[in-house]
Amino acid sequence: MCGIVGYTGHQPAKEIIIDGLRKLEYRGYDSAGIALLEGDHVVVRKKKGKIANLEKAIAGEKFYATTGIGHTRWATHGAPTDGNAHPHISQDGKIAVVHNGIIENYMELKEKLEKEHGITFRSETDTEVIAQILGVLHQEKKSLQECVYEASKVMKGAYTFAAICEDEPDRIVAFRKDTPLIAGIGDGCNFLASDVTPLLKYLDEIYLIDNGEMIVCTPDRIEIFDEDGKPVHKDSLHVNWSVEDAQKGGYQHFMLKEINEQPKAVSETLGRRLDDGNHVHLDGISLTKEDLANINKIDIVACGTAYHAGLIGKYLIEKFAGIPVEVDVASEYRYRDPLVDEHTLFIAVSQSGETLDTLMSLREAKSKGARVLSIVNVVGSSVARESDDVFYTWAGPEIAVASTKAYTTQLICMYLLALYIGRLNDHITEEYSQKVIAELKQLPDKIQDVLDHSSSVESMAKLLYNRQQVFYIGRGLDASVAYEGSLKLKEISYINSFAIAAGELKHGTIALIEPETTVIAIATQDFLYPKMYSNIEEIRARHAHIISLVKKGHEDIRKISTDVLEIPDCMDEVAPVLAIVPLQLFSYYMARERGENIDKPRNLAKSVTVE
Ligand code: G6P
Repeated sequence: MCGIVGYTGHQPAKEIIIDGLRKLEYRGYDSAGIALLEGDHVVVRKKKGKIANLEKAIAGEKFYATTGIGHTRWATHGAPTDGNAHPHISQDGKIAVVHNGIIENYMELKEKLEKEHGITFRSETDTEVIAQILGVLHQEKKSLQECVYEASKVMKGAYTFAAICEDEPDRIVAFRKDTPLIAGIGDGCNFLASDVTPLLKYLDEIYLIDNGEMIVCTPDRIEIFDEDGKPVHKDSLHVNWSVEDAQKGGYQHFMLKEINEQPKAVSETLGRRLDDGNHVHLDGISLTKEDLANINKIDIVACGTAYHAGLIGKYLIEKFAGIPVEVDVASEYRYRDPLVDEHTLFIAVSQSGETLDTLMSLREAKSKGARVLSIVNVVGSSVARESDDVFYTWAGPEIAVASTKAYTTQLICMYLLALYIGRLNDHITEEYSQKVIAELKQLPDKIQDVLDHSSSVESMAKLLYNRQQVFYIGRGLDASVAYEGSLKLKEISYINSFAIAAGELKHGTIALIEPETTVIAIATQDFLYPKMYSNIEEIRARHAHIISLVKKGHEDIRKISTDVLEIPDCMDEVAPVLAIVPLQLFSYYMARERGENIDKPRNLAKSVTVE
């Protein structure tokens, strides 16, 4: 979702800012713009559509500015048009603002500005309110810093924004409220951005800006102030992601690269949490036997793919640790007044650590006394910072909107956590734990085996890519894999697809099965195999195209399936980590055959920082 970049230094700012915006493209956007301090004027250029449109529009212009801000907008208030794109400027044109979030009281503020100050609004956005408030305050001879500070006190909602003013050269002032902001420490220059990806090629030390903090950046200083306007001294954070991590590395798409990175990512996640004796250690996470004795329920809350990882987490924690688990999508959880108290362990799962609904659910649970543990990929993200304990996934940067390696590493975290808790409360034996860990350690090689056979999935997609609808069915853990497989397909190929527990099929959905329907039947759970076999028979009787996904060795399934996808033999419990891989590849190849924009699908954003 909306991305902010700011640069102040001695190099031409335009190139650096546009390059930064390109790195933020993956977050999702529908217009882009920049504001530069050009001599003693603020110059704003913005365009609907891709960053390339903006570049084309300014190709003939020469800019000398060394300070500026840029923005990629994901429309919320007002359509994606040139006029609604950011930056927005104050009525006198002296101040330009970019913003990420939603200002909830913008109508009230807008009316006040119109009535009391005669402001004429030029856009339909909530953001313009910020620019106009800053403009009004600035006319009272206040500095940009004072204006930003005062403006931050009258707004409600989520409003991280950055501003420049033509009366204050070489200065960017920014404020953070509920959506991410970091400051990058350069050499003779400084940056700010919504996340670290635009900065990787310039620096490796950043400041994580907290809610309510304001930053003032000049080429040689970054000053941080708290909610009361007092200076804040904080340690910088070293960033260990490399530029290469965030590049395609020869793959046609980030998604394919990230699918192929899964053996390495899974191995990294395991390596960080297993000791030489194959015991799970949770260094940095304080979860003692006494803590556990105090917990009588676990709530797992997340959105999208991370929610699907939560569904598998529920199964694992209940099986390995015997503690009741509820899983909820964050947008529901936060408004349903959940039954939470100090005996609840709340687990937030989030790749970005910035998903607003997940963050708000976390705060809701925390306010009711829950202990909060998060499973997060982005180090130092909001969810991570507001949690009591963090279990990092260590997947490396995930750029494609459709999540792949973040999901498999979230699953690995769930296994390790469930095993750890299960041993702590003696719900499982050491022998069983060792057996599961031995299976987990084989996963990187087995995922590689699935990847090595990706050409069969590709051929399947070449035949099926113009299908109108695809159903995914499974039982037990496979039902959760079905949900994730189906989400992947619809996200990037736009094929109408949905997933259902196989046993539910005959309670309604089977009415939709006809010869043109493709059904992916996931049957990796040995004890449920006979039940799945019967479900597949029922579908076959309706002449659908059936792709069965099974462990190697189930030759009988070929008799009743149109196609078969295989994963290496494994313990049922760990099968989801393997079963999802051919489904990710299937979605990828289907979308590629259809010529879709795989890494940046329409209407979707990687980081959803609004409700
Ligand atoms: C968006 C993305 C999904 C992602 C979800 C949760 O909807 O498009 O791919 O699963 O947000 O994101 P998170 O960063 O919290 O895991």
